[in-house]
Amino acid sequence: MMNLITRRNLLKAILSIPILGTLAMAVSPFMRFLKPTIKPFNYMQGPDLPESLEPVMFDLSLFPNAFDFQSFNFIQANKEFTALGRQINKIPGFVVKLPNGDFAVYSRICPHLGCVFNFVKDPEEVAKGYNFKPDGPVFACPCHLSVFDIQHDGKVVSGPAPRPPRKFYYKVENNKLVISDLESGGVA
Ligand code: FES
Repeated sequence: MMNLITRRNLLKAILSIPILGTLAMAVSPFMRFLKPTIKPFNYMQGPDLPESLEPVMFDLSLFPNAFDFQSFNFIQANKEFTALGRQINKIPGFVVKLPNGDFAVYSRICPHLGCVFNFVKDPEEVAKGYNFKPDGPVFACPCHLSVFDIQHDGKVVSGPAPRPPRKFYYKVENNKLVISDLESGGVA
């Protein structure tokens, strides 16, 4: 009896192989329909994260004084189901030297509705154009007048923006400031 059950189970297991194979064959195209960038039968493939194509570098001699700044474009590639297989994004950014010697390195895309914001050094100019008088230089968005305090982690000090703009990761090596990646979570 024991032998019979074992043989029956074994036969069942063998017979289920084609069924499982057929299911796998059917599920894979369906998953690729839902997410075209997934590789065939790679059910555990992780999310498609953007890829930073090349770091942006600045010589430190460009920033002799507090609030000296530079603008830049950071190139990121996002996977896409097109002939090219990816879409290239240019993310505008600012790097500003702070009075304590650190750098504020941020995406210029406003976290409110995605306009590109400015770096405004003169508090009087901010007061006239953005309805708010800050203590020092700020990032300020011309669309709905959000103002970000660059000396306090990009804190929103005026306007409708829900949070600070996204930061770039950077390091200083060999007298160069090297911007290597954008904080995760999207562009704006
Ligand atoms: S898009 Fe910048 S404040 Fe609205």
